[in-house]
Formats: sequence, C-alpha cells, structure tokens
Amino acid sequence: SSHTFTPSNSISLSVDIQALQKQIDELSTFSDTPAPSVTRILYTENDVLARRYVKNLMGLAGLSVTEDVVGNIFGRWDGYEPELTAVATGSHIDAIPYSGKYDGVVGVLGAIEAINALKRSGFKPKRSLEIILFTSEEPTRFGISCLGSRLLAGSEALAEALKATVDGQNISFLEAARSAGYARDEDDLSRVFLKNDSYSAFVELHIEQAPILEEEGISIGVVTNIAAPASIKVDFEGNGGHAGGVLMPDRNDAGLAAAKLMLAIEKHATESGSLDTVGTVGILELYPGAINSIPSKAHLEIDVRDIEESFRNAVINKIHKAAKSIAKKRKVTLSEFKIINQDPPAHSNGSVIKAVVDASDELNLTYKYMISRAYHDSLFMARIAPMGMIFIPCYKGYSHKPEEYASPQDLENGVKVLALTLAKLSLR
Ligand code: GLV
Ligand code: MN
Ligand code: MN
Ligand code: MN
Repeated sequence: SSHTFTPSNSISLSVDIQALQKQIDELSTFSDTPAPSVTRILYTENDVLARRYVKNLMGLAGLSVTEDVVGNIFGRWDGYEPELTAVATGSHIDAIPYSGKYDGVVGVLGAIEAINALKRSGFKPKRSLEIILFTSEEPTRFGISCLGSRLLAGSEALAEALKATVDGQNISFLEAARSAGYARDEDDLSRVFLKNDSYSAFVELHIEQAPILEEEGISIGVVTNIAAPASIKVDFEGNGGHAGGVLMPDRNDAGLAAAKLMLAIEKHATESGSLDTVGTVGILELYPGAINSIPSKAHLEIDVRDIEESFRNAVINKIHKAAKSIAKKRKVTLSEFKIINQDPPAHSNGSVIKAVVDASDELNLTYKYMISRAYHDSLFMARIAPMGMIFIPCYKGYSHKPEEYASPQDLENGVKVLALTLAKLSLR
C-alpha cells in the first residue's frame, strides 16, 4: 500500500461550523418536550430517530458503522495499520428531562466533524479512529448512569442487574432494548464487554457544565480527574391516613422523615471538610400523593459526589446514620437504603493529556487543567483505556437546563483540538 506519513503539526484543519451547528439544531428536534428544552430518553422513539440521524452522518463521513446489543454505536475509520489498536472518541446523545442540546451531543457530532475535517486535510490515520455513541449516559430511565460505557468496561454486576431491571412503567430493560431494535435474541449482556486492550486511547469532547472557562476567558479545559459520583435510593414508610382525621401527635409521616433527611444531606455535604463535596436530592416522591392523605411512603434519590472518594464515602455513611435515626425518631420504617452506584474517581492518562495540550498549543488556544465535577462515559472508559477529556466553555456554566449554550467559536475550537489530538494519538 502507498501512504505518506503525515506529521500532525502539518495538518491544516477547517471545521464546517455551520454544518455542525445545523446538525446540533436538527438533533435537538428529536425531543419529548418543546424547544428550547430537549428530553431524549433511552430507547424511546425520539432516541431511536436521533440514533438513526447520527448513524447516517457517520455513514456520510465514510465510517463503517456497527452496534452492540445495548445500542452502543461505533463508527470506524480504518487506519493504514488497521491491526493496531484503535483510538476512540465519543459521548452520549441522551438528554435528561428539560435539558439542553449540547451536553454529550458536542462529543458525538463534534467527533464526526473532527473526522470530516481530518479527511478534508488529507490526513491518513495510522491507528484506526473510532467514534462511539454511548448508550444512556444519563440515569433517567433505568436509574443507572453510563449504562453503555459501564458495560463496555466490563461491569459484571450491571450485566446481571439489567436482567431484572425495570423502568418507572414496569417495562423491563430487555423489553425496552428490543423495542428499539437491540438485544433481539440476546440476554447475555456480557457480550458487550470490551477487552482491556481494545483501544490505545480514549478522548471525549464535552461542554464544561461549569462556568470557569468562560469566566476566565480560556478556550480549552484539559481534564485531569473526574469526580466520583454515588447514588442512593431511600424509602421511608409510615401509616399514612386521613389528613383531617389523624391528629398531629398520632402521625408517623413518611414525608416529614424525607424532609428531615434532605436537610441532613445538605448539612453533611456542607460540613464534610471538603469544599468539593456535593449532595443533592433530585427525586422526591410521596405516596399516595393526595393533598388530603398523610404520606405513607416517601421515596428519595440522592446524588453525592467528591473528587476524593473517602470524603464522599464518609458523607454516605453519615447519611445512612441520619436516615436510621430519623426513622426511629419519627416512628417510620427505613424500608430501603440502597446504594445504586458508588463509583471510584478516574484520572486522565498523562500521554493523552499531553496530546490535548500539544494540540491546543499548536492551535494557539489557551488552556487550563481542570477537574470534571460532572461524570462522563470517560469515567468508565478509563478502566479499559488511557483516557483524556477536552472541555469547551459553555454560557454561564449552564447545563441540564434549556439555557445550555456553547458558541460557534468554542465549538470550532473544541472540534479542532479533538481532531488534532486524535491525529497525534493515531500516529503513535
Ligand atoms: C452527568 O450528567 C452528571 O450527572 O454528572
Ligand atoms: Mn448530562
Ligand atoms: Mn454529558
Ligand atoms: Mn450525564
């Protein structure tokens, strides 16, 4: 075969930012809620349509497209030494209820544009380059985050748990997957696991989801660590009863136990000794949910994070103690205290960091090392590949709401840094 070695510093990249912006806008129309909000939940009709849209763009970019049984989608550009392990990039396109159009999407559509830009420049990859669209980074439907990347990274526990997992409508994971065209005659999800040496590197482009880059006027964030999230489900149960008939001293109100626990979570997160500890109750459900009925059950879902696992775990222990003592005091039952996930933090790989830094330098873009307080599929890809992340600024740090926005200039910068980083990693 005849090919020329292309040093990455001679690549002249042109990003078609209008095309990328149009694709981001078009993808956002596959939504269960009206614009400017985006809601795209795993395996729903809009998710399937959005996947089809992305696969079509991958095809137009000349990538060969494959999917695994849970719907992780892979688009590959073969290198001239295709027997070498590939370099991968990618992110997610699912969107939590009433969120925006950039979270995740920038790392998928931006990656396709990065490949297009590399192709236009005449670059030929040595290692193959692969774009991954990860299934369900968000925990919305089945309560577990980074479902696709967790499985790729070989989570036996998840592969097993998903056999019995149902959504809020009691639809099983496998049934939902089948309705989207996946897991057809397959319930062994361990088929999704990747070998530890599948990729020589993984790098994800994402909006920062915090305001630091914008505030400091810096173009690129080079992620060094990803904070460690944990999520917990809690149920309190009491006797309930008539809101008129049962006098205050005779009640054991599960809703009030939940309220007490919410305040305890705020206290323990605030007083953890680490400024990085955050604790959030984003789901609170009271049963039976009638104005004239004392809550007989309260269901909470709690998100706790820190960049130091030990601080986070100490807070989880305190929350557990608080839940038990509140239950005792209020004469309700703590019928569930279930840790859904308690993930270790991830560190970026030095050589991937260096590739991102070199790319930023060569493009004359300012950059800053930073921590990711949000989690990403990269948290799990780091288990099986040297990992790095590229952040771009987003308006006021807004994310997980419709006001989420990244400027065309920042998108273009991010795509260029990603393209050049992939080129460098490909030639190694
Ligand atoms: C990502 O969506 C996160 O919750 O960090
Ligand atoms: Mn998100
Ligand atoms: Mn995301
Ligand atoms: Mn997310």
